[in-house]
Formats: sequence, structure tokens, C-alpha cells
Amino acid sequence: MPRLLIPIESAAAETRVAASPETLKKFIALGCSVAVERGAGVSSGFLDEAYASAGADLVAPGDAQTWGQADVLLCVQSPSPTSLARLRRGALVVGMLSPYGNHELSEAMKACGLSAMALELLPRISRAQAADVLSSQANIAGYKAVLLGAAALDRYFPMLMTAAGTVQPARVVVLGAGVAGLQAVATARRLGAVVYVSDIRPAVKEQVESLGARFIDPPEMEDKPAESGGYAKQASDAFLAAQRQQLSDQLAQADVAICTAQVPGRRAPRLISEDMLDRMRPGSVVVDLAVAQGGNCADTVPSQTVNRKGVKLIGANELPCSVPNHASSLYARNLLALLQPTLQDGQLTLDTEDELIAGCLIAHDGSIRRGDVLTPGGTN
Ligand code: NAI
Repeated sequence: MPRLLIPIESAAAETRVAASPETLKKFIALGCSVAVERGAGVSSGFLDEAYASAGADLVAPGDAQTWGQADVLLCVQSPSPTSLARLRRGALVVGMLSPYGNHELSEAMKACGLSAMALELLPRISRAQAADVLSSQANIAGYKAVLLGAAALDRYFPMLMTAAGTVQPARVVVLGAGVAGLQAVATARRLGAVVYVSDIRPAVKEQVESLGARFIDPPEMEDKPAESGGYAKQASDAFLAAQRQQLSDQLAQADVAICTAQVPGRRAPRLISEDMLDRMRPGSVVVDLAVAQGGNCADTVPSQTVNRKGVKLIGANELPCSVPNHASSLYARNLLALLQPTLQDGQLTLDTEDELIAGCLIAHDGSIRRGDVLTPGGTN
């Protein structure tokens, strides 16, 4: 019977938890036993009692014996190497492990003989959708980014006809139309804003327009950035310079810019320069979701709001953590969807030939399988 362990998350500002009482019950029905560290779900609104009534064993946080007995550690972010060393050899760690260029993680996997699934690396194929943690969390980030932008803005979002006259709708520019960007578009439209969107993947134009937003066509250049597996590849410096020039006029008229443009495993493209910020209206707002990857916008700082000549720059790096109940519930369902097929007849079996498993299994019993990603400078 596989023994799962749900730890208290140790990363600063992390409020999520990797299992909800709902998913825990389903894991037990699949033949697992589950240990939950006391207090693990409190900041997500899941009390110890709820886990206990779902069938979990509540255990003391960080208890070496409990960690040593676990077959699978379900986490949101990776525990420290010291904590990982408490797991038995052959145990499996499943979570958002920040694998890109993560030498420390690679060394810990080797030294402790662990297996690990880094959920950032799940292939973007239809079968993976229910397990796609990047999507479930990015959706939340896109939604919350617009709420933060609207709350910080010195204007209304919707057009209003009032006795004191007509108020024009806010103008929102969304940079990057992946999962977070499209949710930002939908949320800003629901609040009544006029929305413009920039992305370098032409395929998103139709999706953007179906949400009632206007697409800003990427610059016409020979060296257009490529695309693979639904992801953008890194754009050249010349392309980004042309794109900034094109966006500068749009931003000068914008009330809110929501920055979500990313290239997996790379520094985020710099789309808003100091000069462009100088042209933005005092009172306008930039919400930068890419701030932890170097930022789409100049001068944004993680977890801080900077007032730059009247323009508010919000460094929004941990937005899913600000909606922890739904973020955890959805993340927990993603993990269940991923692991359910591996749990047959009360046994956990990893089919390393399966495309989903092979994509995200960075280490197996201490041997590194995705050295291409884990070595410094590694991307997929
Ligand atoms: P992401 O977070 O890596 O990037 C966000 C967006 O930024 C992307 O749309 C990308 O094209 C854009 N971008 C990159 N450089 C840019 C630049 N210089 N200017 C403007 N935009 C730029 O991507 P995300 O949101 O994780 O997903 C990307 C795509 O993956 C989705 O749109 C979808 O097609 C696909 N997908 C497939 C899934 C599945 O089938 N399981 C699940 C989720 C997404």
C-alpha cells in the first residue's frame, strides 16, 4: 500500500498545500494511506479535522520517521535538500520543483537516491490537461492580476453613463496570451475594459478575438520567434526592439498593462522599457506576472509595488498563493489526475515509457533522466 506524505510547505510566502480532503479521500480509495503534517492545509482553509475525517493520519511536522516511511511526497514547491534527505531511497517526490538549471535539486536527487516528477515539465498534450498545474495556477494569476490592476487604478474599468456625464472604459493592454493572459483578457472584459493583446504566436489571435479583445499583430520580420509544443521560443534582440517600438504607442494610451509573456526556462522577454514607462499616464498601472523571471517591465520588483513617476508597477510573483483555497484544490486535483493511472491494485508503478511520465520524471531512483533541463542553463 503506497504511503503518501503531505508536508507543510516550507517556502516563504507559500500558502498552498498539495492535497485537499477531497483528493485525499480519492487516493485512499485507490489503495493509498496518507499522512498529513499537522497544520499543512490551514492557510488554504483545510483544517486538520477535515483531513482526519477524510481518512488521513495527522503527523508531527518534519518528523524523520514519518518522512522515512513515505513512498510518495506530494508537495507544491520542493522541500530543502536537508528535508529531502529524510526520505528513504527510492521515494518519489511530486511537485513544482523549479527544475530549470537546478543543480542543487539534481545533486539532492542523486545523493538521496530519489525519484522526482517536476510538474513544470508535463508535456502540453490533450491527455495532460487535467494534470496541468501550470494552467490551473496561471489561470488564477491572470484573474487576480486584473483585480489588482483594477484596485490600484485611479479610474473605473467599465464605461458608465452617469448624471455627471459619461465615463470612458479603461484601456487594458495584455502582453502574452497564454493561459494567464487569456484569463486576464476574459476578466478585464467582464469588468468592462477595452482590451488589446500582444503575443508572438499568431495562433492566439483567434482566441483573443473570440474573447472580445483586439490583437496587436507581431512585427513583420524575417527572424520571427519559433514555437514548439504550444510554447514560444526565445525572440531575438532585434525582434524584441521592434516589438517594443510597436507597443510604445499602445502603452502611452493604456490605463493598465498586464504582463504575462514568458518563454519556458528563459529570462522573460523585456517588453516595457524605461522610455515606454516615461510615456505612460501618471495613475496608470503595470502588473508584471513575469517579475520572478526577470520581468517583462523595467523597474518591477518581486512582491512590491513601486511608484515610478505616478505609474504603479506591481511585481506580482506569487498570485496563486493569494487565492490559496482554489489554488490548492485545483493543484490537488491535478496531482490526483496525474497519479491515478499509476496506482493499480494498491501498487504505484511508473511507466517510464509513458509520454507524460517520461516528460516530467527528472530523476528515477537517484539517476538523472532530464539532465538537459537540470544542468545550469538547461531548458527543454
Ligand atoms: P507561457 O507562460 O510560457 O507564456 C505566456 C505567453 O507569452 C505565451 O502565449 C507566449 O507565446 C507569450 N510570449 C512569449 N514571448 C512573447 C513576446 N515577446 N511578446 C508577447 N508574448 C510573448 O505559456 P503558457 O500560458 O503556459 O501556455 C502556452 C500555450 O501552451 C497555451 O496557449 C496553449 O496553447 C498551450 N497549452 C496546452 C495545454 C495542453 O494541451 N495540456 C495546457 C496549457 C497550455
